[in-house]
Amino acid sequence: MQIVTTIEELRSIVKWWRGEGHSVGLVPTMGYLHEGHKSLIVKAVSENDRVVVSDFVNPTQFGVNEDLSSYPRDINRDAALCEEAGADVIFHPEPEEMYFSDNCTFVDMDRLTKGLCGKTRPTHFRGVCTVVSKLFNIVTPDRAYFGQKDAQQLAVIRRMVRDMNFGIDIVGCPIVREEDGLAMSSRNTYLNPKERKAALILHKSLSLGEEMIQAGEKDAVKVKNAIVKNMKTEPLARIDYVELVDGETLEPVETIEGPILAATAVYIGKTRLIDNFSYHSVF
Ligand code: PAF
Repeated sequence: MQIVTTIEELRSIVKWWRGEGHSVGLVPTMGYLHEGHKSLIVKAVSENDRVVVSDFVNPTQFGVNEDLSSYPRDINRDAALCEEAGADVIFHPEPEEMYFSDNCTFVDMDRLTKGLCGKTRPTHFRGVCTVVSKLFNIVTPDRAYFGQKDAQQLAVIRRMVRDMNFGIDIVGCPIVREEDGLAMSSRNTYLNPKERKAALILHKSLSLGEEMIQAGEKDAVKVKNAIVKNMKTEPLARIDYVELVDGETLEPVETIEGPILAATAVYIGKTRLIDNFSYHSVF
């Protein structure tokens, strides 16, 4: 496995692979990889002849008061995990390699990005769409792999790929959880032991909502209120949002009929965590 830091070198490797007739999978990440990322890489390896994992903390998707400088980074650890999972190349550029100092071009979307995480992170998805488009242009993969934990991101990227005719197959992969139910996230490392315990409230509260739906509850407001009420039993939790939305439009629903996504973002101390479940498989 190779660690590549320049766009030029990565392009020439992909060109070589294409010349050999190989298919190419891309797993975009911001590094500090965990078992969730590993599951994406393993799936990519099983479906493509060659796999690139991008490992880049993308500055344009962080808001001004967010955790860009403290976001955890460890390329050696990431390289070991990628090697074990069977990736061929890690693309690990510096920000100056990815963005010209006078960069003024962005990819944005006027729907799907306003609600849920977009409400409190208004520039986040512009940054995500921009960097993912750049990665798609650099790697030109056949398939790209994203986790369902970032459900809004997955919906946004699918829509961007459709609207912009990227011709790339977007593969959504299931959430990977710790044994006690906490969804894996690089940001879990911010949690102290007390917060780590408190963070279980996300999955517990969502599971309660999911059980209500499975038992036949059709009133989305009732389900949402039950999730919120349970979330509030945890003193360290501060809710950013709990929403039940249409799986495709991401607009709030009143009645649970077709595929829906129940998504939440909650601050545990200073750490913002997200989690979700889908009903009638949104992904
Ligand atoms: O999900 C992430 O880690 C990031 O948002 C992504 C897709 C790698 C873009 O920077």
